[in-house]
Amino acid sequence: MDNTDVPQWAPSPAEYDDLALALDGVLPDVSVAVPDDITVPPSGLVDLTDVEGTPVARLTVASCRETAAGGQVITGSVAPLAPREDGVFRHLHRTPDDLRDVLTGSKAAAFPVDAPLSTADLARLAESVTAYDTTVLLPLVGHGSSRSLSPPALVRATTAVAALLPGRVLVVPVPLARRDDADDDARRRRLVAAAYGEPVALALDEPRVLAPGEGAYTLDGYPDRIAAIIAAEHPPLHERGLVVFFTGLSGSGKSTVARRLRDLILERGDRTVTLLDGDVVRRMLSAGLGFSRADREANVARIGFVAAEVARHGGLAICAPIAPYAATRAEVRRTVGDAGGGFVLVHVATPLEECERRDRKGLYAQARAGLIKEFTGISDPYEAPTDPDLVLDTTGTEIDAVATSVLDLLTTRGWFRPPGA
Ligand code: ADX
Repeated sequence: MDNTDVPQWAPSPAEYDDLALALDGVLPDVSVAVPDDITVPPSGLVDLTDVEGTPVARLTVASCRETAAGGQVITGSVAPLAPREDGVFRHLHRTPDDLRDVLTGSKAAAFPVDAPLSTADLARLAESVTAYDTTVLLPLVGHGSSRSLSPPALVRATTAVAALLPGRVLVVPVPLARRDDADDDARRRRLVAAAYGEPVALALDEPRVLAPGEGAYTLDGYPDRIAAIIAAEHPPLHERGLVVFFTGLSGSGKSTVARRLRDLILERGDRTVTLLDGDVVRRMLSAGLGFSRADREANVARIGFVAAEVARHGGLAICAPIAPYAATRAEVRRTVGDAGGGFVLVHVATPLEECERRDRKGLYAQARAGLIKEFTGISDPYEAPTDPDLVLDTTGTEIDAVATSVLDLLTTRGWFRPPGA
């Protein structure tokens, strides 16, 4: 058959997880939402690709239904087109068939795990599996399933307690994604458990540690090894990544405040800082970009990308571009959040008249004269933030006082150790 007739589509992360499970023989079929412009050919075949566009599986469409959004959801069985690259903990990956070979003759209980197991969970689980020789723990590492730990940490936390359960314990990570529908999730979890052993019905304790940044928590009630893994993933705010993002007009004083804030932090000496200031960024990261909307968006997105990587490793990044568009700032906030960092937005709201009066670089005069086109505040928009954490005006104030007010806010919010602590 001519492959050019087979349309290709990259499924969403959750659908891709289902695909992996179907290829492993855990789920019977896969449902994928495709847009209108994907037409299922008479052969009923659609190739599913990974994010890089490499076809990994061929779906034979058994049924289709229209969605409210205008596309359709196609459902069917899948066959592999290429060996899959399993990700983290690939050496623990087992299909149900692989496991049957390992388990010959043994009576196995299977239990999906979506959160760190508390001491009470373990006691109840130990009781439920006394009649089995083997317990298969299935940490759910699919999109959105793992609660309060990252998927790799959930696998580590599950492996760490294997020795605390009776009999033989195997840990097999399973890429089951979480759906919006609790009943559907429960049904799919039973399917997964049934594929690997006899499902154990047991509700876990609500994890006491929720999303990053969700305040205080106690590790009482967790075995030490699990508590250590949870603590490592949930350090106090003053040890976590943070992005302080200044936005404001040219000449508003944001670079000066940003630099002073950096210096104050260096004087304290308890955090490292990366300053992503406008001019340096435009030379190093964004050389060649101008001031069209698209170029400004690209510039700010690049700043956000670098800042998020700094935050991912627990660092502090201070950014100070004009960043005139709310949507781009929101995108940066999201990117930083996805990397596990905090995001503090500071609007340096010095009025345009004051920025223009200062006109340190003489750019406002040139913009008024029409020599510079698309100049922010004169001939190009600035969307004032509606979601700032702090609004500053540098008119007639000491830079030191302004920078200190930012540091005070960060300290109040927990991003620095309080004085004397
Ligand atoms: S942003 O819009 O992409 O966030 P960025 O902060 O990097 O802008 O650069 C702004 C600086 O570039 C200003 O402080 C100013 O010195 C200079 N500049 C040159 N042309 C323009 C322009 N058309 N609009 C705004 N700033 C400009």
